[in-house]
Amino acid sequence: MHEDPFTILAISGSLRPTSSNSKILQVIGKRMPDYIQYFIYNAIDKIPPFNDSEEVPDTVISWRKSIAAADVVLICSPEYAFGIPGALKNALDWTVSSGEFTGKPVALITASSMGEIAHAALQHTLVAISANMIPGAVHLIPFIRAKMNVQGEITEPAAARTVNNTIEAILAFLQDSKK
Ligand SMILES: Cc1cc2nc3c(=O)[nH]c(=O)nc-3n(C[C@H](O)[C@H](O)[C@H](O)COP(=O)(O)O)c2cc1C
Repeated sequence: MHEDPFTILAISGSLRPTSSNSKILQVIGKRMPDYIQYFIYNAIDKIPPFNDSEEVPDTVISWRKSIAAADVVLICSPEYAFGIPGALKNALDWTVSSGEFTGKPVALITASSMGEIAHAALQHTLVAISANMIPGAVHLIPFIRAKMNVQGEITEPAAARTVNNTIEAILAFLQDSKK
């Protein structure tokens, strides 16, 4: 068993205070073993619109450093207006030229009413920035609001299994990476 801690950076695509995606990330964080340092990045709303200027804003520097320092990035996002939520897409755009996602192991849950379009679009974007999608850790959970209670617990068995499977796939990947 690996004894050094691994770092997982979790990013919610939703800024809503009662976001189901943010709740899923909290649930996952509570289930992580002691050797995982689990951080939720809660400042994508502070990242200015992408402009490719030479003077990089401090918030972008901090965002890039957080990704670079993570062993795994876990993204959990809804679909808004048949697309990737703007703040998340903007944050990803800031990494296109700087390359923090190149080879970065990434897990993805798209939890939405439907979500197929954003789920596909997120995977396209992640491929474009050369992320390394973790096998077994890319999942769509449709009808998310009907599958959670107000405490944020996932009450629908298949969705709960999907979350479990994601956690297991990430942990297996991390253990394999150190062999
Ligand atoms: C502005 C807005 C646009 C939405 N558009 C979509 C959509 O295109 N496809 C979809 O599956 N759900 C859509 N939904 C429903 C969301 O998937 C649902 O509200 C989900 O719970 C949002 O995730 P969150 O709770 O993490 O914010 C939309 C919701 C909002 C508020």
